[in-house]
This record gives sequence, C-alpha cells and structure tokens, in this order.
Amino acid sequence: MARLAAHLLLASSLLSLAAADGTLRWDIQKNHDVQAAQLKARSLALQRRALGERADTLTATLDNSIQAGLYSANISVGTPAQSLSVQIDTGSSDVWIPSSQASICSDEKDGGCPGGSFDPTSSSTYVDVEPDGFNISYVDGTGSTGDYFQDTFAIAGGEVKNFQMGLATNTSIGIGIMGIGYNSSEANVDTGNGTIYPNLPYALANAGLINANAYSLWLNDLQATSGSVLFGGVDTAKYTGDLISIKVYPSSYSNRVTSFTVAFTSLSATSSSGTDQLTPSNYAEATILDSGTTITLLPDDVAQAVFDELGATVSNELGATIVPCSLASNPGTLNYGFGGPGGPVIKVSMEQLVLPLTLPNGKTPTYSNGESACQLGIQAAGDLPVLFGDTFLRSAYVVYDLDNNRIALAQTDFNSTDSHVVAFPSSGAPIPSATSAANEDQVTQTASAVPKVGGGSAAGSGTTVTFNPTATGFSAASGFGSSAPTSTGGGKKSAGPSGPEPFRWAPVFVLGATLVGMLAGTGIFALL
Ligand SMILES: *[C@@H]1O[C@H](CO)[C@@H](O)[C@H](O)[C@H]1NC(C)=O
Ligand SMILES: *[C@@H]1O[C@H](CO)[C@@H](O)[C@H](O)[C@H]1NC(C)=O
Ligand SMILES: *[C@@H]1O[C@H](CO)[C@@H](O)[C@H](O)[C@H]1NC(C)=O
Ligand SMILES: *[C@@H]1O[C@H](CO)[C@@H](O)[C@H](O)[C@H]1NC(C)=O
Ligand SMILES: *[C@@H]1O[C@H](CO)[C@@H](O)[C@H](O)[C@H]1NC(C)=O
Ligand SMILES: *[C@@H]1O[C@H](CO)[C@@H](O)[C@H](O)[C@H]1NC(C)=O
Repeated sequence: MARLAAHLLLASSLLSLAAADGTLRWDIQKNHDVQAAQLKARSLALQRRALGERADTLTATLDNSIQAGLYSANISVGTPAQSLSVQIDTGSSDVWIPSSQASICSDEKDGGCPGGSFDPTSSSTYVDVEPDGFNISYVDGTGSTGDYFQDTFAIAGGEVKNFQMGLATNTSIGIGIMGIGYNSSEANVDTGNGTIYPNLPYALANAGLINANAYSLWLNDLQATSGSVLFGGVDTAKYTGDLISIKVYPSSYSNRVTSFTVAFTSLSATSSSGTDQLTPSNYAEATILDSGTTITLLPDDVAQAVFDELGATVSNELGATIVPCSLASNPGTLNYGFGGPGGPVIKVSMEQLVLPLTLPNGKTPTYSNGESACQLGIQAAGDLPVLFGDTFLRSAYVVYDLDNNRIALAQTDFNSTDSHVVAFPSSGAPIPSATSAANEDQVTQTASAVPKVGGGSAAGSGTTVTFNPTATGFSAASGFGSSAPTSTGGGKKSAGPSGPEPFRWAPVFVLGATLVGMLAGTGIFALL
C-alpha cells in the first residue's frame, strides 16, 4: 500500500447502487488534487438496498488522488452512521479508521484526517473487543495503534453488524485503510491476541451480501476520475478479450496463502519497430498484486532492460526513474505475461506509465535541453519485494478469488460505461466467465516461494515455475506486499527464516527535501 505522501490525501467515494439486477455496486472515483480541508466535513449519501432484496454483489466507487495514487471509498461506521473515506488496499487485511481523539486529526499542518475520523462515544453499537490490541505497521515505516472494536459497518449499501475494525488512537497515517487481503495477514495474527477474525470479504459473505469471498478491481485510466470495485462478482463489460485465471501461491514458510502472489512469466516491449523480448524464454518471478502501491517494482535486471528500452534514467536523488514526459504519447506498450504460455498477457501503454513530477514551486523539472521530465511508474525492486502496483493494475481487470486462491486477469476496457455484472453463484464456484491458464499446472513451487520458470522444460510445452530463496529476504508469499503489515510483535509473520525485513520505501513522490537535492545535484535537470 502506498503510505507515501499521506498528507496529499484523497478521496471521497461515490456510492451507487445497481439496483434492478439485485446487485450493489461500488464505483471508484479518482480525485485530482483534492484539498484536505475540502474533504473534512463531507457527508455520506449511502444508498441502501430495499428491504428483502437479494444482493449477490456490491459495487462501490473509489476515488484516486493522482499525485498520491491512492484509491479510496466511502464507508460508514457506527449508530448513527458516521461517514468516512478509507483507502482500499489489497496488500493488507484489516480495516481501520482514525479515532477522533487521534492527535493527527487536529494537526492541520500534517493534513489532518481528510477522510474523516470516528468518535466511538457517539455510537450506541460500539464495542471495544480488544483494548490496545490493534497495532499495524506498513513497509514504508508508517503505522497505527489502538483498539480492536466491533460496530456496524456499511459500504455500497451493504451493512455488516458487529464488524471488527481497528480504531487508531495513535497513527502516522491520517486516513483509514480498508485492507481486503487474506485474513491470514491480519495484523492481529502478529501483534494482537492472534485470533483471526472475519475480515471484510469474509464478513460480507457471512452477512449474506455476497456469495463468495471474491472481488474485482477496475481502477481505470490514469487520467480518469473513477473506477470500481465489485464484491462477489465480475463485470464482463469492463474488460476486453479473455479473462484468464492463474494460481495464487502460498508462502513457503507457512504454506498458507497470505498475499496475492502470482507467477510473472514474461515481459516484452512493443513499438512501431516491432517487439523486443525483455525476459528470457523460461522466465518466472513471484510478484504481488498490490492496489495500495502506486508504482511497479520489477526485478533489477528486468527493470534495467525496461529502462534501456524506454530511455529512462534513475535519479537516486529523486528516488525515481525519470523519462521525458513526451514518452506518454508514444504508442508502444509493455506486455506482461503471467502463468506461463497461454496465461494472461496485459498490455500497459506508455500513457499509463508516465507520471507527473512536480517541484514544490509547482513547476515541472526539465532536462537540460528544455524537455519536461516525468516519472516512470516502474522502479527496480532492489531489496523490496517485486510487486505490481497501480501503474500495472490500472491496465488490467483483476478478479481476486480468495476462496479458490486464484486471480483472473484481462485487458481493462478504459472508461467503459457499460456494466454486465455476473455474480459468483456460491462460495468455491469458479470465477464466472474466466478460463484457467493453459499450462499453469506445469508451474511448480519450490521451497523458497520465488517463482522461476524451470530452465529444463521445453519451450512451448509449458513453463515450470519454481521458487528460489533470495538473499534479500524477499518472500513474496510470506505476506510482505509493500502494504502488507510488517511483523512487529510476536514475530510469527516474517520475511523468512531470518525474521522481519525493515522495508522502507524510496521517496517515490517528489517532496521538497528530495528536490532540493536533485537541483543541487548532477545538473541533469534544470528548473524552468
Ligand atoms: C464520498 O462522499 C462524498 C461526500 O458525500 C462525495 O462528495 C464523494 O463524491 C463520495 N465519493 C465516492 C467515490 O462515492
Ligand atoms: C481475542 O480478541 C478477540 C477480539 O479481537 C476476542 O473476541 C477474543 O475473545 C480474544 N481471544 C482471546 C483468547 O483473548
Ligand atoms: C504514538 O506512537 C509513537 C510511535 O510508536 C510513540 O513514539 C508515541 O509515544 C505514541 N504516542 C502516544 C500518545 O501514545
Ligand atoms: C479465514 O480464511 C480462511 C480461508 O482463507 C477461511 O477458511 C476461514 O474461515 C477464515 N476465517 C475467518 C475467521 O473468517
Ligand atoms: C478516459 O477518460 C479520461 C478522462 O476523461 C481521458 O483523459 C482518457 O483519455 C480516456 N482514456 C481512454 C483510453 O479513452
Ligand atoms: C506495536 O508493535 C511494535 C512491534 O512489536 C512495538 O514496538 C510497539 O511497541 C507496539 N505498539 C504498541 C502501542 O503496542
């Protein structure tokens, strides 16, 4: 999850209801430059289902602040309902909200609590179930502590009573997080009393609002203002081509599935002059799909191949990969393959990869020839996990099936205004409208959980994905997304045998101090 630039925050979410077909929808709306102050006192227009109406899916709107790359949704908590906006995150598994007592909420210079805060004393249904039991920390070093509580929770017109959440009384993050990953990655498992509780996807299913622990994410175009998240179904009007499912890999350490780790098996670049293969023929690497991370972190060698291909340069001072902004209008694509030959391939256009870079004075840095400089939404992972964040995910329609441990991917249909929702008929039913990747059975897992395509298998006859240990302690399957909570207390969740990794983000977003360094630096950039 992107805990970067939390002060820039985001988001308000539009809830809408696709009523006639008995489904509930939650659309994602993206905000550009939302001012924290404007977000403070909003009210939630939550539409409720007609009594007795059967709902098989829930869809809600997500907003995204383009600078911070955070996607958020409107929820309400308590009785009477208190409205909040929270950031959606597939890389963590707890829903938590800031307490109105948290000091960050009255700290306007740090941005306050732009998604609102929760006053437990004003809710008649609030129950504190584990005082001081909530303690979550994220890989960028931010975190929250407080109580676990239960209260009425509502999203997209669906309501769950006695839903368990964290109430952050001390937090370095001013907006709540809605973690929707596997329940085995709940912060509670490490730092609370260890009791796994039904987190959001399970709670929605337990409440009968959806039939299966599954949801689909359609983040939409970088330039668009909204996308959607659909619980319990697939919207076949939001993608083109085939929806193909691949396996989610368990952690080799716990042998449990704890994060959305899939096998990334090829990368090529297509331009007007043809297609270059950027990965070897029998390639595979574990990668985590993490909606809470803004950029994509590729294995170092693959990242370098991409940078060479695109003419990108790495600025250590900026902590970012720099490209000419004009790259955005290049018609080329990067083509990411998963699950071996016959698996899904997602094309990411240059337009989706080129992010704005803004100086504190509001200006755009330039190359010395005057050309505007932008950020490429890809970095080398280095010691961080390989993970595919929003600069990949926006180009894909992604179905997360937590019952069957499968993920289905298709090429997104940007700006689609059509909707054709197909609900999962039951828990454990296969993903509607999806087929399984053809050669996936030959993808295997070895002890260390890092997928590799087996060098020995004949090309074309399928790919063997093996998992090899890495020196960095990266364990994609052990729960370390960029947003996966890091183990702090019990140490039960670890990055590997050597224990928790102190992951920290590079300063991907351009903050004042970083830029000063850049300007005083190599002189690659000049200020217009
Ligand atoms: C969230 O609620 C606010 C205030 O009602 C509204 O302005 C905003 O559009 C909503 N956003 C979404 C994505 O529903
Ligand atoms: C652990 O905490 C949960 C609430 O988070 C509570 O329901 C449960 O009884 C607690 N279990 C133990 C063993 O304390
Ligand atoms: C909040 O957490 C920080 C970091 O863990 C700690 O230094 C500080 O003392 C805490 N503040 C309160 C009021 O508990
Ligand atoms: C946690 O998830 C597993 C499957 O991943 C499920 O079997 C179990 O019931 C869930 N536990 C709770 C408390 O929701
Ligand atoms: C989608 O809509 C946005 C905002 O209206 C626009 O900037 C973008 O070009 C559109 N994308 C496509 C692929 O049509
Ligand atoms: C949260 O967990 C971390 C790591 O175990 C610990 O250092 C910290 O003291 C805990 N915070 C609280 C408030 O319990």
